[in-house]
Amino acid sequence: MAEKAYQKCINPDCAALFSCDESFFKCPKCGDLLDIQYNWDKIKTPKKLADFSKRWATRDNRLDFSGVWRFRERLDFCDDKFKVTIGEGQTLLQQNDMLAEFLGMKKGCLHLQYEGLNPSGSFKDNGMAAAFSHAKMVGAKSCACASTGNTSAAVALYAHHCGMKCTVFIGSGRIAYGKLSQAMDYGAKTIQILGDFDDCMKQVQAVCTELKLYLLNSLNPFRLEGQKAIMYRILEGLNWAVPDWIIVPGGNLGNSSAFGKAFYELKELGLIERVPRMAIINATGADTLTELVNNRKLKWNNGKVDNKKISDFYAELTAKKFSPHTCASAIEISRPVNLKKCLRAIDVTNGVVRAVPDEAIVDAKALIGKYGLGCEPASAATIAGLQVLLAEKTIKPNETIACVLTGHSLKDPDVTVDYHKKKSGKYSNPPVECPNDLREIIKLMS
Ligand code: F0G
Repeated sequence: MAEKAYQKCINPDCAALFSCDESFFKCPKCGDLLDIQYNWDKIKTPKKLADFSKRWATRDNRLDFSGVWRFRERLDFCDDKFKVTIGEGQTLLQQNDMLAEFLGMKKGCLHLQYEGLNPSGSFKDNGMAAAFSHAKMVGAKSCACASTGNTSAAVALYAHHCGMKCTVFIGSGRIAYGKLSQAMDYGAKTIQILGDFDDCMKQVQAVCTELKLYLLNSLNPFRLEGQKAIMYRILEGLNWAVPDWIIVPGGNLGNSSAFGKAFYELKELGLIERVPRMAIINATGADTLTELVNNRKLKWNNGKVDNKKISDFYAELTAKKFSPHTCASAIEISRPVNLKKCLRAIDVTNGVVRAVPDEAIVDAKALIGKYGLGCEPASAATIAGLQVLLAEKTIKPNETIACVLTGHSLKDPDVTVDYHKKKSGKYSNPPVECPNDLREIIKLMS
């Protein structure tokens, strides 16, 4: 392929190549996942990573203002005239010494990458900036996604800005109200399917194929290119030092896949000397990755993944009529579409996978609320996972950690209010009822 960027099937036995002018969400030859690859020698790029930071000084340029397009040479698949931005990626890497101390870590070691500060309140906007640019490049007029909530909010927002028609599919009763309210408010056609996310994911692929709609789930390889920027911003927040660990929640496994690719490419280009390790954290009620990697020893194996292990496990889930359940509704997924790319990321980063129960997730969420900027339940799986990894000494208290807090705390206030009001958790902080009487009020305040 002579262009700067092209699409390539990740299955080494197929390895089919396609131009970025085409739009598929799976390899049309073998049905496996597609990747975006670059001819780096054709891409003019800042020599050092620190050069990207200079763009802060030229923030009146809309691409320099975007926390994704600021790093545009790392995802150079489309012409500037197609690039979509609504100000995504103005997020924060917060060094959190109070939480570090609480967890028994050394001061200066724990960082929280707060992606809740994105325009639609989650990390998804990083991916949407890239995917909608590709949608514009191929002239798409109508798009769709399946979602546990945040994807639908982000797609609805970006579709509106791009003048595209948009339909989002959500599992009935499976979505936090903050997210549902966004999809409706931003004008998406919202279809609630009587089923879970995995059912929606299956249906949306069929709908997109039949009606020729542009698919915006993380099966879309262009979306994952945008999500690499979260890692560039973590490095930037650490003054371009590589942390020891990245910790990320695992749902459909788009983030973990994108993060592994980001570091692999930087290493390949000689822009970093080593790749951080990655910990991917499932909820125990939706722990496909943990089961397949830790118990059934599924591996990347240079792309020759043992597909039978996966299909056998999925057949077991079907036979049991298994539907995943966790209070972290964002990651309530049992058939993650990016599983294979995630295996590659685990390989590249010498990664680990753990699952944490809902009780640990809500306790961790309360700690992040108390000591940090707050987050939604799925994001708190990172701190719950960190606690497990510290206890088992996989992570040492003096290692540098960046936890990706994927969504804003106001996305799912029901879980927060329940936790505090029901006094069920270690850190519950319920409101105190009081008669409408000054003396009684003052008595309560002492
Ligand atoms: N955290 C949040 C807040 C999410 O919304 C999601 C995924 C994840 C973590 C998991 O990320 O899929 O890259 O492993 N939400 C999707 C959605 C599935 O439809 O909003 P992943």
